[in-house]
Amino acid sequence: MIITLLGYMGSGKSTIGQQLALILGYEFIDLDTYIEVKEGCTISEIFKNKGEIYFRKKEHGYLNDIISQNSNIVLSLGGGTPCYANNLQLLNTNNVVSYYLKLLPGSLVDRLFDEKEHRPLISYLNTKEALQEFIAIHLFERQSYYEQALHTLKTDNLSVKNIVELIVKDLY
Ligand code: S3P
Repeated sequence: MIITLLGYMGSGKSTIGQQLALILGYEFIDLDTYIEVKEGCTISEIFKNKGEIYFRKKEHGYLNDIISQNSNIVLSLGGGTPCYANNLQLLNTNNVVSYYLKLLPGSLVDRLFDEKEHRPLISYLNTKEALQEFIAIHLFERQSYYEQALHTLKTDNLSVKNIVELIVKDLY
């Protein structure tokens, strides 16, 4: 089985995915890290040197490779993964269970302001107000993709431990 976590940047996909994989005894794959290893450079460098279209093509190809594996994996996607190519269709197969980690824009702003440097889509936004405005619009555009996950978890006031427990309970 493949358990995928999706959601906006800063929604905790990687942290929660790691913990979940540990508890379930599954392999953990973070799609961004996987891309960085395969491409031999950071996501920021890919955006800067090759552009977003190149990144989205690679993201789709590597997602396809991972989904085709017949093993137990917890897979944390990038924030934009469900919104490009036919990635949602790839996830819509029998052996994949998807969870949308849903946070309010305000919670995302607080988290992302201090860790925006390595995220090329928001790294140029210098004030919290600018980031807030960007996220409000961007999240609105992406919401309909995220909502197509099999399960949606509202995670605003929950700890990592709580969220992992919720997913494990839901699975068994
Ligand atoms: C992106 C999110 C990033 C990364 C890339 C693009 C997006 O992943 O894939 O910078 O389009 O939202 P995280 O959600 O892990 O930050």
